[in-house]
Amino acid sequence: MPLIGYGTYQTPPGITERCVADALKVGYRSIDTAQCYGNEHQVGLACSKSGIPREDLFITTKLWACHGYADTLRSIDGSLRKLGMDYIDLLLIHEPVGDVYEIYRAMECACRDGRLRAIGVSNFLNERYLDLINHCKIIPAVNQVETHVFRQQTELRALERQIGTAPESWSPLACGENNIFRNQVLMRIAEKHGRSVSQIALRFLVQQGIIVIPKSTKQEHMKENLAILDFELEPEDMADMEKLDAGRSLFGWW
Ligand SMILES: NC(=O)c1ccc[n+]([C@@H]2O[C@H](COP(=O)([O-])OP(=O)(O)OC[C@H]3O[C@@H](n4cnc5c(N)ncnc54)[C@H](OP(=O)(O)O)[C@@H]3O)[C@@H](O)[C@H]2O)c1
Repeated sequence: MPLIGYGTYQTPPGITERCVADALKVGYRSIDTAQCYGNEHQVGLACSKSGIPREDLFITTKLWACHGYADTLRSIDGSLRKLGMDYIDLLLIHEPVGDVYEIYRAMECACRDGRLRAIGVSNFLNERYLDLINHCKIIPAVNQVETHVFRQQTELRALERQIGTAPESWSPLACGENNIFRNQVLMRIAEKHGRSVSQIALRFLVQQGIIVIPKSTKQEHMKENLAILDFELEPEDMADMEKLDAGRSLFGWW
């Protein structure tokens, strides 16, 4: 899975095809969507019209409102139909709701029969994550949780590292909240490296092995967010940014 992907949360279906097409054009190959975003069909259209071979793309989607085994299998087929694809690279349980053991068991089954290449979870914080680990056969490949400079998830990431789940950040730019683009610490480090605040905030995560999926509707921002692999933050930059962690959600969901 690429370390940098493109997010589509709150991208209205009417502009999703154009946004995803732009993201693919500037070089993204990993796209994050979800059943509840209502834009899987438009993501699929942009992918098929791009002419990029399917095996070069990495498509993540997330289950919504499933309750158990049978409806999860139907829901997976629904996503495949909407995406117009015959497999999904990564399927996540969007949030720990419903009979997650049975939902995950259905995902394991679809993983074995090839409809899913990998499976994982989202918004499974410490206890919920550990509980699933004790009940599953396939270790979640990924746990996608709110992670940005203001909420760094240090404890959960240490746990995931021991177990073998890759950490993935949602809202790596804090969804633009908390005045992130005018933050004094980030602005100082950005100036020092001749980079943008966005690049510094994303590099901070990627440099720790955290997968990021920033979202932008603008091509120049998409490009900027992708261009973060050719420089390195110094230990003192990392230490200053670690101090920005407030240890709580900016959104009050999980
Ligand atoms: N699993 C979950 O529960 C969950 C929850 C939330 C999000 N997600 C996933 O995570 C993805 C990313 O999170 P997000 O969409 O909440 O927000 P985000 O990527 O943290 O931030 C997006 C905001 O930052 C702005 N932005 C992006 N690049 C910029 C740049 N280079 N310079 C200045 N502004 C920039 C965008 O505005 P412009 O359009 O103007 O660039 C937008 O307002 C989502 O799209 C979704 O795929 C998952």
